Amino acid sequence: MVWKQVDNIWEELYQYLIDDNFILVTDKNVYNIYKEELENLLKGREEIYIIPSGEASKNLEELSNIYSLLIQRNIDRKGRILCLGGGVVGDLAGFAAATYKRGIEYVQIPTTLLSQVDSSIGGKTGIDFSGHKNIIGSFHFPLITLICTSFIHTLPEKEITCGLGEIIKYGLIQDYNFFKYIERNMNKVYSRDMKVLSFIIEKSIKIKLSMVEKDKLDAAIRQNLNFGHTVGHSIESFFGYTKYNHGEAVILGMMYESNIAYKRNLIDKEYYNEIIKVLSPLVEQIIFSNDEINILLEYMKNDKKNKYGKISFILPVGRGKVNIFYDVEEELIIKAILNDYKKE
Ligand SMILES: NC(=O)c1ccc[n+]([C@@H]2O[C@H](COP(=O)([O-])OP(=O)(O)OC[C@H]3O[C@@H](n4cnc5c(N)ncnc54)[C@H](O)[C@@H]3O)[C@@H](O)[C@H]2O)c1
Ligand SMILES: [Zn+2]
Repeated sequence: MVWKQVDNIWEELYQYLIDDNFILVTDKNVYNIYKEELENLLKGREEIYIIPSGEASKNLEELSNIYSLLIQRNIDRKGRILCLGGGVVGDLAGFAAATYKRGIEYVQIPTTLLSQVDSSIGGKTGIDFSGHKNIIGSFHFPLITLICTSFIHTLPEKEITCGLGEIIKYGLIQDYNFFKYIERNMNKVYSRDMKVLSFIIEKSIKIKLSMVEKDKLDAAIRQNLNFGHTVGHSIESFFGYTKYNHGEAVILGMMYESNIAYKRNLIDKEYYNEIIKVLSPLVEQIIFSNDEINILLEYMKNDKKNKYGKISFILPVGRGKVNIFYDVEEELIIKAILNDYKKE
């Protein structure tokens, strides 16, 4: 897995335009903000495809539009797709690259904090189908991931929070000192301090890669990356992917799952409170009713990560350490979700 941080992405990208044997996929917001730079880069060439921004574009129709452009531009097996955007562009155009002519090269140029620390690393590509998220996909590793922190300057604050969700997760699953560093420097992330961002991004990628490289196909240690995601995914599904973005749902998920860990005596009260103190100001918590929690439980039971019919949970078991559990009692899940952090 090759990646690097670059200062001037537009200069760097010239090297990746191979004759006319490439297309560039981006989304409408990114295109609008970086139109001038893109026009300079492509110099009137028509190899660009712009998807509407947002999760709803990770679908078969947009995939088919990308295939059509690839065919129309005569892209051959030595061709390449440049994916410029957040995780939506990366997953969708990466999947087009994985499947067109049985797989061509692609370059990830992630423009959101979340995609820089997470989705552009690890080779997972795919689309949503019939209400099921990431249900069609493939492992296909990019030729290279080019990270340019300057993109974060134009990113809305809500998207910074989403990236932070996954970044804090890395600290909690593998590196307690990193978690404390993020806690101390949170304001600098929001004020887009490039030095702090660059350090945090590099550290996050290294933690993710240390797991991906041991477990490329997601069968063992890579599952630790799912901390916060069992409850998080159920919350996303519950709201039909509208109220909370993925990273925000993961923040809520980490709070609930830490509460389960605390109630099971896997972590002490002091550590539990440290986690809640960092996470709770980031996202507005909602209080679910009993009926709503039953719906969340149904989503958890259908999670593709489950085994032997049991809901799988990654739970903290110490500072910067997690483990996988298949035996969390339903009662405990319900209690954790009913917990109101503001009252603690
Ligand atoms: N493949 C993986 O391993 C993996 C991991 C995590 C998440 N994902 C996927 O990633 C997706 C979420 O990615 P995301 O959070 O990047 O969302 P996104 O791609 O929807 O981007 C979020 C928003 O930010 C805008 N944007 C992007 N870059 C910008 C910039 N520099 N300035 C201003 N606005 C900008 C986008 O137009 C969009 O509106 C989900 O579909 C999720 O399933 C994949
Ligand atoms: Zn995630």
